[in-house]
Amino acid sequence: MSDASLLDFRFEAHGSPVPASEREAILADPGFGKVFTDHMAMIRYSTDRGWHDARIMPRGPIQMDPACAVLHYAQEIFEGMKAYRLPDGGTALFRPEANARRFRESAERMAMAPLPEELFLESIRALVRADKNWIPAMEGGALYIRPFMFASEVFLGVKPASEYLYMVIASPAGAYFKGGAPSVTLWVSEDYTRAAPGGTGAAKCGGNYAASLVAQAEAIREGCDQVVFLDAAERKYVEELGGMNLFFVFEDGSMITPPLGGTILPGITRDSILTLAKDAGIAVREEAYSLDQWRSDAESGKLRETFACGTAAVVTPVGTVKGDGFEFGIGNRGPGILTEQLRAKLVGIQRGEASDPHGWLERLD
Ligand code: PLP
Ligand code: COI
Repeated sequence: MSDASLLDFRFEAHGSPVPASEREAILADPGFGKVFTDHMAMIRYSTDRGWHDARIMPRGPIQMDPACAVLHYAQEIFEGMKAYRLPDGGTALFRPEANARRFRESAERMAMAPLPEELFLESIRALVRADKNWIPAMEGGALYIRPFMFASEVFLGVKPASEYLYMVIASPAGAYFKGGAPSVTLWVSEDYTRAAPGGTGAAKCGGNYAASLVAQAEAIREGCDQVVFLDAAERKYVEELGGMNLFFVFEDGSMITPPLGGTILPGITRDSILTLAKDAGIAVREEAYSLDQWRSDAESGKLRETFACGTAAVVTPVGTVKGDGFEFGIGNRGPGILTEQLRAKLVGIQRGEASDPHGWLERLD
């Protein structure tokens, strides 16, 4: 078995990378998840050989056997993180070790080989160094990094696979929500749930997102941006969005976010906001909050702000909440004061413009 810490990445440079002028044009307005950098990282795993064949190579299609296990039983996990351009032109990652840990925990939940965290980190650093010219410099821009891993064994028996392929691709990104609206509108799904106790809600596995798409499509049909899921047991408590965690801000300046408990994703942005709020002396509780309470607090004015947070969405104010037969607005339906303060603090740290008391930035060059 190979010792992960000794694994060297073989570097195969792209023979015909995207020309600089074309790349600059893309970086001026990259959108989200549509364009990709020149290279990708890849590491193979088999129970016989352990982790091996680590490479940074030209990005391109991969061949798959039609009996590849992931195509049948969805043993797949992923991560989402960003590299930022610093004011002095350098490059930094934000809390990459937190993504490495969550990736390992997701792998364990899905009975996959856990990638050693140091190997995860090395793959990210190597890819970002190779493609650092792809990090957008514009405000709100970053290089979105997508590590993922899937069962690559060619076998139709239902069991944890004995072979995995780990890969990392990267995509220059601007705002996740199009149109630069001041706030987003949410749709409360009462027919579908995302994750039940004992299920895979805390793992970042593709299956969770597949299961959310019908509810997300309903949200779009109803003219909303994102779906809100309620707890599966009682259909009463607010859990999270299809791809973001939620925070609620009250008139007394305190905040609530739904607790982790296995059914929601333990967001790294969520954890960072909790820390920044505590630093600022804000009373913040990880506590179950029901849809009924949310609605009555919004209507009475006790609730002043609601925001969604995640790597892709950063901190996004929620203006309106809709569901079957109801609709309520939050505050003035635009960005709230505390939302804006916390967003500015977080983004300041991520972009290397504010002090970083918790050592969250990892500088690459
Ligand atoms: N919840 C879900 C379902 C997500 O997909 C994400 C995005 O990664 C988050 C929450 C936020 O997590 P993070 O802040 O680590 O990006
Ligand atoms: C992220 O914020 O990184 C996510 O994974 C959310 C979504 C784009 C899947």
